[in-house]
Amino acid sequence: MKVGVLTGGGDCPGLNAVIRSVVRKGVQDYSFDFVGVRDGWLGLLKNNVVPLDISSVRGILPRGGTILGSSRTNPFKHENGMQRVRETLAAHEVDALVVIGGEDTLGAAMELSRQGIDLVGVPKTIDNDVTGTDYTFGFDTAVGIATEAIDRLHTTAESHMRALVVEVMGRHSGWIALHAGIAGGANVILIPERPFDIEQVCEQVKSRFQINYAPIVVVAEGAVPKEGQMILKDQSLDEFGHVRLSGIGEWLAQEISARTEKDARTTVLGHIQRGGTPSAFDRWLATRFGLHAIEAVKDGDFGCMVALESTRIVRVPLADATAENKVVEPSLYDEFEVFFG
Ligand code: F6P
Repeated sequence: MKVGVLTGGGDCPGLNAVIRSVVRKGVQDYSFDFVGVRDGWLGLLKNNVVPLDISSVRGILPRGGTILGSSRTNPFKHENGMQRVRETLAAHEVDALVVIGGEDTLGAAMELSRQGIDLVGVPKTIDNDVTGTDYTFGFDTAVGIATEAIDRLHTTAESHMRALVVEVMGRHSGWIALHAGIAGGANVILIPERPFDIEQVCEQVKSRFQINYAPIVVVAEGAVPKEGQMILKDQSLDEFGHVRLSGIGEWLAQEISARTEKDARTTVLGHIQRGGTPSAFDRWLATRFGLHAIEAVKDGDFGCMVALESTRIVRVPLADATAENKVVEPSLYDEFEVFFG
């Protein structure tokens, strides 16, 4: 059996740990051969496929990014996309694919699977918004980075008695904002799932100043004011129809300054959250996902995604996993009400 491995979408810490785990178990236990597909679906459109063996995955466990490269290519947005994918797979005699990706990459995988390509999905994303799995790898690392940033911002905010806004990633879901905001002791946390009232945010900021604390506002890039629209960097869409976010943090700082007459500044964490070495938890989860993904390939259980359910790794249909994003439940957000304001 020859297996192709690809990583698609935004990168995240732990991708290399999956690649290593898939190859190690596939070669050692099942004598599978492997190839790496470069840059996500783009590699299958452009016949960019490289050898992958035990020696190529040596030493990559703690390395961030992906040794295979990644892109936001949607094979169905390219002329003869499906045919080109089939031709590349045939040219390299690839029998099955392990597709490591988030909502978009796995959505395309689902359609390819429906059209007869044998594949198994592995969920990744710092956003933690893939349905069907309790956690995606990359998330824990991102939360750690954001929490450390908030810790640091507390001390400088207090020295100058100013409000600091921290913008974190999270297009459709506020998982990073909520986890890092709670871990870092923020007093306002704004998430895409819950449009916010700017008046109320300013009241919460003021009440913090009144008791001599410098407020920390954590905002997910996809958060929106009740009266208004999502703040965008530019209007252009990627191949999956997403706009580029970022800007809400700057907007908030300006509004807070104007409405409270207090100094407010913004820190945008951006891609720092996606870079660098994965946390121990992400390496552990990514490694387990890889082991179970190759097991699914060996079983011929195609069209599924490996997922974390409590402490067990299970297989869920790709169709279920890609039907919608996993968002923060209102009741979970409300648990932390006492810390807001
Ligand atoms: O991969 C998820 C993510 O990090 C989102 O949180 C963010 O909106 C997006 O990717 C940014 O993508 P890019 O690096 O392509 O601008």
